[in-house]
Amino acid sequence: MYNTKIAGAGKFIPEKVVTNQDLEKLMETSDQWIRERTGIEERHWLRRGEETSSTMAAKASKDAIKMAGIEAEDIDFIIFATLSPDFFFPGNGVMLQRHLGITKTEIPALDIRNQCSGFVYGLEVADQFIKTGKYKNILLVGAEYHSGGIDISTRGRGISVLFGDGAGAVVLQPTDKDKGILTTHIHSDGSQAEILSAKNPGMHGGYYDEDHKEGGYDVSTDHPFVLVTDKMMEDSLIYPFMEGQTVFKTAVRKFPEVIKKALDTAGYTTNDVNLVIPHQANLRISQFVQKLLHLRDDQMFNNIQKYGNTTAASIPIAITEALEQGRVKEGDLVVLAAFGSGFTWGSALVRW
Ligand SMILES: CC(C)(COP(=O)(O)OP(=O)(O)OC[C@H]1O[C@@H](n2cnc3c(N)ncnc32)[C@H](O)[C@@H]1OP(=O)(O)O)[C@@H](O)C(=O)NCCC(=O)NCCS
Repeated sequence: MYNTKIAGAGKFIPEKVVTNQDLEKLMETSDQWIRERTGIEERHWLRRGEETSSTMAAKASKDAIKMAGIEAEDIDFIIFATLSPDFFFPGNGVMLQRHLGITKTEIPALDIRNQCSGFVYGLEVADQFIKTGKYKNILLVGAEYHSGGIDISTRGRGISVLFGDGAGAVVLQPTDKDKGILTTHIHSDGSQAEILSAKNPGMHGGYYDEDHKEGGYDVSTDHPFVLVTDKMMEDSLIYPFMEGQTVFKTAVRKFPEVIKKALDTAGYTTNDVNLVIPHQANLRISQFVQKLLHLRDDQMFNNIQKYGNTTAASIPIAITEALEQGRVKEGDLVVLAAFGSGFTWGSALVRW
């Protein structure tokens, strides 16, 4: 049995910077409100038609592949995490394979949802295949094109100010047993699935809607096409929904829990940790987690100030930046942790 190491990492961030002041021109909000509640100062948003989540992923992947010292054709498995894929189907995995020109090897491409936890979920999946020796060069990416799917009017301000576009990728390879990924833990609780959700377009056909439960849902008018209905468009039901405070309260409980689980399993304490790279959900959430775990500032990685929340892309983007800034070195003990829609959450403990 092998362990799994992160052999290469790369990121792609769109060029266009959207500051909080830019948002003040689009909706009733303020730089002060956004900074105080989220820590975000700016984010990057794609121009229409400029890129997609799969093309951004290809750019991030090329850097990760180069750092790992391999060629694209050496990749033997693609795992792609996103909530903003190019198409309803097929998934982004095959699109990435195409953009990278991996044509001869007919490798498998797996698509992962799991929103903000998508990267950590993907890491656990990849780890199983590397450990058993089935694959030797797995490309794991997280990429999001949020700006094309959010409500940028005042009505959507509780969500739209938080999210940014971008992509991050890693190449995973086998390594010695005492190095690389030491343990992973992934979890979910679907009882609160709608609390952070984008239900439409979707194939639920009104099943979860209140008016359906009360018998008011008229199947004859909405049948057979349910994916995008006139009602969804008229009532602006196509945008993401979030009960922010419930998300906040659950996140600050689950992040420390799953980080401690990783450390306990491997026999370490927070004192042993060189760096925690959390999913960049909200700077206030990360600061809360830091306080609860008694971590020093130099043990936490934050870059949400520049990018906003990039969901599945946030951890691989942060890994790439932490490496660029010399904040992760060989031998360091690093914790990756995520929490998000589903709810889903998870952690990975890595000896670099
Ligand atoms: C989203 C979040 C910042 C909102 O902060 P909050 O303190 O909970 O704010 P509330 O939603 O209670 O709203 C407070 C007020 O601010 C207003 N508001 C919401 N968004 C605003 C914005 N962008 N600008 C200005 N005002 C805003 C609300 O309308 C509300 O006004 P009211 O009191 O007149 O009704 C916070 O709940 C949060 O960070 N939650 C977690 C979100 C997250 O991390 N999601 C991703 C998980 S992976």
